[in-house]
Amino acid sequence: MVVIKTEKQIGLMREAAKILTACHRELRTIIRPGITTLEIDQFAEHFIQSHGAKAEQKGYKGYAFATCASVNDEICHGFPTRTPLKDGDIVGVDMVVNLNGWLADSAWTYAVGQISEQAERLMKVTKECLYIGIETSVVGNRIGDISHAIQSHAEAQGFSVVEEFTGHGIGQIMHEDLQVPHCGRPHRGERLRKGMVFTIEPMINLGLHHLKIDPNEWTARTIDGSLSAQYEHTIAITDNSPLILTEQD
Ligand code: MF3
Ligand code: CO
Repeated sequence: MVVIKTEKQIGLMREAAKILTACHRELRTIIRPGITTLEIDQFAEHFIQSHGAKAEQKGYKGYAFATCASVNDEICHGFPTRTPLKDGDIVGVDMVVNLNGWLADSAWTYAVGQISEQAERLMKVTKECLYIGIETSVVGNRIGDISHAIQSHAEAQGFSVVEEFTGHGIGQIMHEDLQVPHCGRPHRGERLRKGMVFTIEPMINLGLHHLKIDPNEWTARTIDGSLSAQYEHTIAITDNSPLILTEQD
């Protein structure tokens, strides 16, 4: 069952999202060569807690960290580590904030120092995929329209779309019933209705779309070692344009 939220409930999610976006804005300023993803994780956890909220990912299905930190060929669910980031790396930081029982979820990919032109393009196109998905998220359209719009853009730019992970409904629990694939056929799936709240979180690869899972049973990485980027927002469907709860600006 797809959960429909009231405006008041969406307002509560927005409050959680404000803490999350403020945290991402801080990460922008601290991520540089030499910092470790464990330091980033500890910064984020402390930031979230000091704002009276909880880092929802920690303890979720046994996940041990406040953030997922996915470097270069890591697609998602990368574990924070003590390895310093290097000039030219890209790192995706994903987190979920719980404020008074209401959640917000957003991932962002950051450049570490000076990155290659290819990496720059991958990040740009992945972010465009997210925003194209959001633009398509209007009442009357279907989930498949979002999926198709994202896939079309990524592939037109010569990149590939990870199939195994989807956006999801979110509210008082992290993964609610609705699934939002980032590839697929138009005019299919659930019709969008006012009050739906879900994430769109395309993972786009420079090379093949296939993945493998690390022995830690969490971390997904590209099968060919190519770079992967991800951007994720939590959005709410309204009568007009979708509301981006986790918008950073
Ligand atoms: N934020 C992630 C998502 O988009 C969840 C990561 S799994 C976790 O669904 F265990 F780390 F929480
Ligand atoms: Co998510």
